[in-house]
Amino acid sequence: MGELGFSGKLNGSGPRREHWRFFILARVRDRLAAPMYRKAANGLTSSFMVLPSNPADTSLEALLAQARQAAERSYSPYSGFRVGAALRLNNGEVVTGTNVENVSYGLTICAERSALVAAVSQFGPGIRIEAVAVANLNNAASPPCGACRQMLSEFVLPDAPVVFPAADGTRTMPFSEVFPLAFEMKLK
Ligand code: THU
Repeated sequence: MGELGFSGKLNGSGPRREHWRFFILARVRDRLAAPMYRKAANGLTSSFMVLPSNPADTSLEALLAQARQAAERSYSPYSGFRVGAALRLNNGEVVTGTNVENVSYGLTICAERSALVAAVSQFGPGIRIEAVAVANLNNAASPPCGACRQMLSEFVLPDAPVVFPAADGTRTMPFSEVFPLAFEMKLK
């Protein structure tokens, strides 16, 4: 879906206008969607078709603000890296998560996976993720890590925009570009 132009910074009039144009187009397309568009990367079909009614609340900027708020709740005494994630679901809900570290280090859970497990816990396995926002309070780049991409791929719609802090500023990319080759288990 790269040609749909999801890439681009949120700031600045040109790319921003472009972003909105394609964001709105994608929303209209989702409303009219054939079932193939409702499939997550794992091929499961969504059981929700309800879309949020207030477009202002569905903007990526709003989602990013919710990710930032979630980062305020980070438990990260070992790294000091405070991350938040917000997932917009196709049932109209937004679920957030933050990173929760542990003295054993390896048991740490990232903000994105926290949000994902919260979303499934609250709304069940039929959820599909329509947009992902990641933020941190450290003024650093933080694209979702590989483990989080693999976990998200099970529930995310392939052209869902993913907005995250990159080295060159805030970037927005469709999930299929962020994670093109998910592990799948198709036994013969
Ligand atoms: N972290 C996230 O929350 N998301 C990512 O995608 C990568 C890293 C967290 C985990 C850990 O608490 C801290 O950032 C430093 O790695």
